[in-house]
Amino acid sequence: MSARVTWSAPSNIAFIKYWGTKDTERVLPYHASISMSLEVCRSTTTVEVAPGLAEDEIWWLEGGRRTPATGTFRAKAAKHLDTLRRELGRSERLRVATSNSFPSSAGLASSASGFATLAIAVSRAFGLALEPGPLSVLARLSGSGSAARSVLGGYVEWPAGPRGSDGWIAPLATAEDWPLANVIAILETGAKEVSSLDGHRRAPTSPYFEHRRALVPERLATVRQAIAARDFDALATMLELDAIDLHVIAMTSVPPIFYWNPATLAVLEAVRHLRRDGVSAAATMDAGANVHVLCPAAAAEAVAAQLATVPGVQALIRDRVGSGPRPEDLDLLETPT
Ligand code: PMV
Repeated sequence: MSARVTWSAPSNIAFIKYWGTKDTERVLPYHASISMSLEVCRSTTTVEVAPGLAEDEIWWLEGGRRTPATGTFRAKAAKHLDTLRRELGRSERLRVATSNSFPSSAGLASSASGFATLAIAVSRAFGLALEPGPLSVLARLSGSGSAARSVLGGYVEWPAGPRGSDGWIAPLATAEDWPLANVIAILETGAKEVSSLDGHRRAPTSPYFEHRRALVPERLATVRQAIAARDFDALATMLELDAIDLHVIAMTSVPPIFYWNPATLAVLEAVRHLRRDGVSAAATMDAGANVHVLCPAAAAEAVAAQLATVPGVQALIRDRVGSGPRPEDLDLLETPT
């Protein structure tokens, strides 16, 4: 029996979003994106190389129990394992057990952390300690482009471009450099009606797609500069503009996609009230109704207290910028079935 390895990797929240895929096969974006890796929301995966198996064993952990992965989850994980073997030039079957630190019903995308962790743990199980650049390519070949940014901690840029140094992620700053908090307002649980993959495909059909694309280089420059200067106000303005643009594009795609619900607007209003009261806070949404409210660490208490009063907020997750993937002293394959 070969050794088992366990790694965890973070989810991330984009400041300048990846929206629209130029090449769905290689998962290439039209433009770069910038995100912050989280600390609390993460996936953990144990992998063992098991050449004797007829097919991969994939387990899912929830509520302290290990159950065989089924349905779409199994299909996506199995496909990613095939991709990883092909890219790494290996053929052995694998035993895999994975879990998320946040409830899978929380309506938060777990694909970024899940696929990044799988890429890291599988390459480690094969005895390879890859650099973040090639790991980011392996992570995004899962189909989840944002997984590319989850192989690093802190603040991360995923440049547009093919395989090679120009398509590899790059660190912009560490978590210690700028300890921002992220209070996540959970407004909707369960799977979204339109996947982000469909959203990426439809994005270029929006009349606003090319308009935003022309604005992105300047937005990226502003956000890079805001991160370098720890300028929260400059970040806040861009963060909200770009999130709203993603949703304008989604709502004007053919056919249109509506990810928001009424509580999304109520949280956005609460964030404006916080700012009016002198609390630094800025909101951003991925392809869903939930709202991530970024703020300096010292403001997190006030932000959470305000968001808790908004009708429609089902739960809050108190997260923050994190230090990235790490090995874990755990063996999820030992969890009872
Ligand atoms: O990684 P995907 O294919 O699920 O796309 C994620 C897209 C957004 O979360 C909406 C934006 C982003 O850059 O993370």
